[in-house]
Amino acid sequence: MKMRAAVLEEFGAPLAVQEVELAEPRAGEVLVRLHACGVCHTDLYTASGADPSGYAPTVLGHEGAGVVEAVGPDVADLVPGDHVVTLFSPQCRECIHCLDPRTNLCLAIREEQNKGHLPDGTTRISRDGEEIRSFMGCSTFAEYTVMPEIALAKVSPEAPFEHACLFACGLSTGLGAAINTAAVQAGSTCAVFGAGMVGLGAVAGARLQGAERIICVDLSPQRLELARGQGATDLIEGGEGAVERILEMTGGFGADYTFEATGNVAVMRQAVEAARMAWGLCTVAGVAGKGETLDVVPRLLITGRRIAGSSFGGVKGRDQVPVLVDRYLAGEIDLDPFVSHRISLDEVNRGFELMEAQDGIRSVIELA
Ligand SMILES: NC(=O)c1ccc[n+]([C@@H]2O[C@H](COP(=O)([O-])OP(=O)(O)OC[C@H]3O[C@@H](n4cnc5c(N)ncnc54)[C@H](O)[C@@H]3O)[C@@H](O)[C@H]2O)c1
Ligand SMILES: [Zn+2]
Ligand SMILES: [Zn+2]
Repeated sequence: MKMRAAVLEEFGAPLAVQEVELAEPRAGEVLVRLHACGVCHTDLYTASGADPSGYAPTVLGHEGAGVVEAVGPDVADLVPGDHVVTLFSPQCRECIHCLDPRTNLCLAIREEQNKGHLPDGTTRISRDGEEIRSFMGCSTFAEYTVMPEIALAKVSPEAPFEHACLFACGLSTGLGAAINTAAVQAGSTCAVFGAGMVGLGAVAGARLQGAERIICVDLSPQRLELARGQGATDLIEGGEGAVERILEMTGGFGADYTFEATGNVAVMRQAVEAARMAWGLCTVAGVAGKGETLDVVPRLLITGRRIAGSSFGGVKGRDQVPVLVDRYLAGEIDLDPFVSHRISLDEVNRGFELMEAQDGIRSVIELA
């Protein structure tokens, strides 16, 4: 079939929205009609050419929500009409990692996904016989996508698509960092560095876990106000003195849980230093630049602080994204403030501009 999609033709150049060919779903695959898709830093990172593992041509986008249109052979859990959220982090439910409650890092399709292929080593998108690779296994800057069933979470049809798509990436990452990776205890003190989608999700997750005090640190006063709306109790301007402020606010000890959601290694260090001696846990969700390292004084660890990394918030996507969506539908999370701009597929490059200008949290592409 023919569909419209935003193609990255050349690094550093605007995406070109055009008609491409999409092949039928094969075994284990599903055709999804997309209704909404968030525009994320990771899309821009690849489009800019900064990502050393990036490839072109490809259809970018990985924060999709839509409806199953058709299924290929051997699809067990989805039928046409199901509402789904795309998962760049799949869940096969069979590999050694999927069977272990300690991790969400499914091993089933990693290698082919990193190469821009579907699990069988080929792609479904093409143009005049030339293959166009799949991005993060999703390619959702498009009217339709074909994805493996293991990379789709079936969610409640009651969730509006523009909110459901937020769960495909940063929101679940932040919520999961607090709920799964840190498993924040009720009554504790948390400090969240960064109030973008991931940090705001971590603030909301800490609140849902019953944290008593949630300190949020950011450079932008507007973003700090959004953090207050998600449950932050104290707001601090980021930069040099942030760790000292947090120590002062916690009787000199530091926070029981800290979260890093900026991608800046200097801030990661601050997040470690702001964690409480004896049991403070620092959860790192930000993605640092290639080759950058985290500089930590080992004494901080000997005296009881721990550091954990968190990919997609430790969320096992097919099992847990539907639960997070249900909690949103139950009124536990307010997502309206996160959707700052609604744009069309043709305006996708404007979505990148808004992001570079830090204008709002998410631009969402409305597709149908
Ligand atoms: N682990 C994962 O699976 C995963 C998933 C999605 C995103 N990420 C990463 O998480 C990070 C955050 O993503 P996002 O979408 O929320 O980004 P974002 O750019 O929207 O938010 C980052 C925030 O950090 C703030 N900031 C910058 N410097 C700061 C400082 N010195 N002190 C305090 N705050 C500072 C910025 O003002 C901004 O509000 C990125 O590195 C992203 O790549 C990780
Ligand atoms: Zn994303
Ligand atoms: Zn798996």
